[in-house]
Amino acid sequence: MCCAKGIDRLMLDLTQPPSHPLVAASILSADFGQIADECHNVLDAGADLLHLDVMDGHFVPNLTMGQDMIRALRNHCPDTYLDVHLMVERPDDYIDSFADAGANCFSFHLEVSDDCENNNAACDANKLIDRIHALNMHAGLVINPPTRLDGLLPFLDRIDLVLVMSVNPGRSGQSFMPEVLDKVRALKPQLRPQTRLEMDGGLNPATAPDAVAVGADVLVTASALFGAGDRPALVRQLHAMRCRPELR
Ligand code: DX5
Ligand code: ZN
Repeated sequence: MCCAKGIDRLMLDLTQPPSHPLVAASILSADFGQIADECHNVLDAGADLLHLDVMDGHFVPNLTMGQDMIRALRNHCPDTYLDVHLMVERPDDYIDSFADAGANCFSFHLEVSDDCENNNAACDANKLIDRIHALNMHAGLVINPPTRLDGLLPFLDRIDLVLVMSVNPGRSGQSFMPEVLDKVRALKPQLRPQTRLEMDGGLNPATAPDAVAVGADVLVTASALFGAGDRPALVRQLHAMRCRPELR
C-alpha cells in the first residue's frame, strides 16, 4: 500500500516556517452529523489544515475515529493537509491504512514508545518514523504535559513535527495548562527550521499569544473554533500573531 495522495500536491507546505501561526482545526468539536460541511466551513473561515484526533479507548478512555473518517475527509477535502494525532497504544498498527486513506502527518505519542522512561511499551519510535516516511507522510512525535523533553531529543533531526500537549489528552474543551510553556521554550531552539512546533489543548485568543511567544507555530483548536459565533474572526485573531523564528 502507498499513500494515495501524498504530501507533494497539497497547497500547504508544512516544512516552510510560517510567518504567522497555522491554525489546525480539530474536528473533535465539530458536528459529526455534518462533518464534511463543518470541515469546509472552518477551511473557508481560514483554517490552514485539519487535525484528526484518533483515540483507541486504551491510551485514553475515549473512542473517536479511524481510517474511514480519514478517507472520507480526503475525498471531500482533496487538497487539505490532514494532520492525524494518534492517542493509541499501538500506532504501528495504523501506519499503512492511514497512509492509504490519505493522511499527511502521522503523529504518535512518545509515551507509547520504548524510548520513554517509566513504561513497558515496546514500540520502536525509529522504526515507526522510517515506516511513516517510506509512505510519504510527515512524522510527528507528541508529548503529554507531564512528560519531559529528554526522550524526544534523539528524534529531533528525524521528525517533521513536535506536538506538545497543553491539556491531558482525551477530550476537547479543557483548560490550557500554562506549565507546559517552559518546555516549549526550551524545545524551540533545538528544532530544525523545517520542523513545526504544534501545541494542542485549550488554545483560544486568550491563551494562544503565550504559546506563540515561546515558539509554537501550529495551533490546534477544537472548542474555540467550532464554538465560535464568528469562525472567520476567530481564525483572524489567531493569524494576527507573528511567529518567532529567531527563537531557534
Ligand atoms: C485532546 C485533543 C485535542 C482537542 C483540543 O486530546 O488532542 O486536539 O480536540 O480541543 P480544545 O481545542 O477544545 O482544547
Ligand atoms: Zn489533538
